[in-house]
Amino acid sequence: MIDVSFICLELLHYRNRLRAEYSVERSSSEFERQIVVTGGAGFIGSNLLLYLVPRYPHYLFVNVDCLTYAGNLSNLREIENLPNYRFEKVDICDFDNLKRSFERFRIDGIIHLAAESHVDRSITGPAAFIQTNVLGTFHLMEIVRESVSAGRSIRFHHVSTDEVYGSLEEQGYFTEATPYKPNSPYSASKAASDHLVRAYHKTYGIDTVTTNCSNNYGPYQFPEKLIPLMIRNALAGIPLPVYGDGGNIRDWLYVEDHCRAIDLVFHKGESGLTYNIGGHNEIRNIDLVRLVCRILDQLVGGDPKEKLITFVKDRPGHDRRYAIDASFIQEKLGWKPQYRFEDGLRKTVQWYLDNEKWLSDCISGAYLQYYQKMYQNR
Ligand SMILES: NC(=O)c1ccc[n+]([C@@H]2O[C@H](COP(=O)([O-])OP(=O)(O)OC[C@H]3O[C@@H](n4cnc5c(N)ncnc54)[C@H](O)[C@@H]3O)[C@@H](O)[C@H]2O)c1
Repeated sequence: MIDVSFICLELLHYRNRLRAEYSVERSSSEFERQIVVTGGAGFIGSNLLLYLVPRYPHYLFVNVDCLTYAGNLSNLREIENLPNYRFEKVDICDFDNLKRSFERFRIDGIIHLAAESHVDRSITGPAAFIQTNVLGTFHLMEIVRESVSAGRSIRFHHVSTDEVYGSLEEQGYFTEATPYKPNSPYSASKAASDHLVRAYHKTYGIDTVTTNCSNNYGPYQFPEKLIPLMIRNALAGIPLPVYGDGGNIRDWLYVEDHCRAIDLVFHKGESGLTYNIGGHNEIRNIDLVRLVCRILDQLVGGDPKEKLITFVKDRPGHDRRYAIDASFIQEKLGWKPQYRFEDGLRKTVQWYLDNEKWLSDCISGAYLQYYQKMYQNR
């Protein structure tokens, strides 16, 4: 006998799928602009999408990310069901798939953040850095070049790092004119991608802007990076490893200030130019770790966390000092950081305390199941 209820259920699923596909197609053409954000499930990418998607309801944002260990879709819970957000699980190293993904939309802007981003990993395994950071950027530039030669207009915003400039002595700052001197496979791969973007502007007239930013901190940073690592270890009561003598200096910027700068440069930056972005917050690693400890002591109490600090063998090629001169973006576009360092840091520590589940899911790997749960059967 035929199971009528089973057939009805199947028909219902079929109808819903058709409706969903139809509404995606129809609605994407209604947006004023369609913008790809690559690496949107990473630390800065997810902060950027959380910042942009609600601010520009008339733009469609397509998050292109292949979800490496650093990609965490649960960061985007707040916006994942908004009508102007889509997710495409695509590896930028896979040219054919990337192209097919772009063909589903009428993209007129790309904000490119997808990268392998951890210096230590680049020292133990540089190949993935060359693949994603160099080859992946090349693929995107090629897709833009093809689209532009077919008469489309696309702005390409390349998000890069101050690490391409190498290391500073005690004096001086990186400006947009500082020569490139990368010292790690990570910074060398980012430098190569910056050069590619510049070359595509000069050679093919592609509309590009590049931003080179100092160290970011804030919510959703994967706990292998300095600040969340220290918070996580201090909460677990395990050693806080500090490289070398702890004297390396970084210039820290709260991630929301970076997102604001990207928004400005993407919309108003002059084609072909580079903008340095920095927080004017130079601090030695050891002083930063001590500050995190003091904030944690105030917020959670217990034994002084500073006692957990342990000096470990330095990283090879460890740059001594980075410091950005951000006067160009300030003069041209009126950007300056809004967060004072101590306020941003306190807010960050509080966020990790309020989101211990996020932190423990990162450590246990549970966040990797979020994609299967939310997207696999859609
Ligand atoms: N974190 C910083 O302090 C900082 C400072 C300046 C510049 N940047 C730059 O900003 C960008 C984002 O940095 P982040 O700290 O958010 O990095 P992240 O490692 O947290 O995130 C990278 C994201 O890219 C995705 N990705 C990696 N390889 C991919 C591939 N082949 N295809 C598609 N997606 C891929 C990952 O899944 C992840 O979601 C990077 O380009 C980095 O160089 C970072």
